[in-house]
Amino acid sequence: MENIDWNNLGFGYIKTDFNIRCTYKNGNWGDLEVSDSEYFPMHISATAIHYGQESFEGLKAFRGKDSKVRIFRMDENARRMQDSSAGTLMAQMPVDKFTDAVKKAVKLNEKFVPPYESGASLYIRPVLFGSGPQIGVKPADEYMFIVFVMPVGPYFKGGFQTTPFVIMREFDRSAPRGMGKYKVGGNYAASLVAGKKAHELGYSNIFYLDAKEKKYIDECGAANFFGIKNNTYITPKSLSILPSITNKSLMVLAEEMGMKVEQRQVPVEELSTFEETGACGTAAVISPIQRIDDYDENKSYVFSKDGKPGPVSEKLYNKLRAIQYGDEPDKYGWVTLV
Ligand code: PLP
Ligand code: COI
Repeated sequence: MENIDWNNLGFGYIKTDFNIRCTYKNGNWGDLEVSDSEYFPMHISATAIHYGQESFEGLKAFRGKDSKVRIFRMDENARRMQDSSAGTLMAQMPVDKFTDAVKKAVKLNEKFVPPYESGASLYIRPVLFGSGPQIGVKPADEYMFIVFVMPVGPYFKGGFQTTPFVIMREFDRSAPRGMGKYKVGGNYAASLVAGKKAHELGYSNIFYLDAKEKKYIDECGAANFFGIKNNTYITPKSLSILPSITNKSLMVLAEEMGMKVEQRQVPVEELSTFEETGACGTAAVISPIQRIDDYDENKSYVFSKDGKPGPVSEKLYNKLRAIQYGDEPDKYGWVTLV
């Protein structure tokens, strides 16, 4: 690992030694298999490549001060992948098999788990897709599940630093009764044009509004939204956003810190009342927001005048990281030691 600069990792693909695979055929999942290849042969008519019958997950493993490796809430990712399967008529990966594959992938690539001091982590990417052929729009008969891993640093530039975000009504990510609540590739394809425009304008990402009324904050392309005011943690309730495991954890930690928690619709104008806001997710962790520009209304909601993260975001961030790295007791049973 002499060629990995742990302290300056970005969020990008890095080849590691092994990945874990499992195929579903004739109505059954096979055994977990270990591969050292980054490739697999695929049928030219696989449903994944024609009709987007696929889902993926993202979770992380952390090396503690004690040099032990901890995986965060992997059973939650397993269940969310089952929901994505239900939403796309794919075979469901049993929770135990999912978690066994994740543990195995981490163990076999343990030397890629960044050292504690670097503040980096091992990103784990399970993916499940229709590998069997169809040409009619129908679910496949065969599926492939793969888990691979890579060391990563911060998703948004600078890590725990405030950055600007933007609202642009020109783009929708997903419809209220559509696929937004599932972690399926199509949602990310749908966010590429908007993401490119946001980046070109100097923003970290775009916040989508609800597609029906264009009144309420949904989320950004890869993270949920939260706002803080009057000792309350407020986060959108919506049919078209991904139920974030990070957000769910932060709600527990906010309550533990004596805050009120509200999961409800958040009208755009309410942005003017928040003391702090942030984007949260596995990759994003907490990405505190400097300001949100409303592109169409030519308005700017500023949350950090000096560019520093707010005190509540910082406290939540430290608390979450302390549990993930094993600096604080895992009283909710969120962590699995590898
Ligand atoms: N929203 C979207 C669209 C995402 O892709 C992610 C990342 O997984 C999140 C939210 C955050 O979810 P989690 O905290 O489970 O990683
Ligand atoms: C994650 O936070 O795990 C994500 O999936 C975000 C992005 C890399 C798609």
